[in-house]
Amino acid sequence: MLLLSCNLKKEKKKDVLFQYLNENLFPNNFNNSYKCQFVLSDIPTFSELKEKNVFSNCISCHSDTNPKGNLNLQSYEQTRFRTEPYNPQTSILYLSVLPGGKMEQYSNPCITDAIYKWIKNGSKQ
Ligand code: HEC
Repeated sequence: MLLLSCNLKKEKKKDVLFQYLNENLFPNNFNNSYKCQFVLSDIPTFSELKEKNVFSNCISCHSDTNPKGNLNLQSYEQTRFRTEPYNPQTSILYLSVLPGGKMEQYSNPCITDAIYKWIKNGSKQ
């Protein structure tokens, strides 16, 4: 929190705040308390998320045959469209899985962290 009182531009402050929030809610090292079903590279692409089934909890409602909220999480274009690349904090995909978000109940720290990393690195294909 000390960091936030430095002389940073407003947007930068917001970015630092969200990074702080994400890292503390969902530390990279989940210790032994949470075993992720997948291990991602530091800069994951959408292909990697797909290959490692990161959205397996979501697919029953967000597939090409059943795209609830008009969102098919198997489609790069549709998923990318719910993000602002490099800015998880303004991306509906990330906000939806944060505590208090509509999709929180279907996510877990591993999925939320994966979404954060994907967007943070530019929502690449
Ligand atoms: C049981 C069904 C179900 C599951 C499972 C589910 N969702 Fe959803 N999702 C919905 C419905 C229904 C909506 C539309 C809700 C609304 O607009 O009020 C929605 C909306 C969304 C939206 C907003 C789309 C938009 O542009 O408005 C996002 C993002 C989203 N879901 C992501 C996810 C993610 C990520 C997961 C898995 C962690 C997930 N959902 C799991 C049913 C589900």
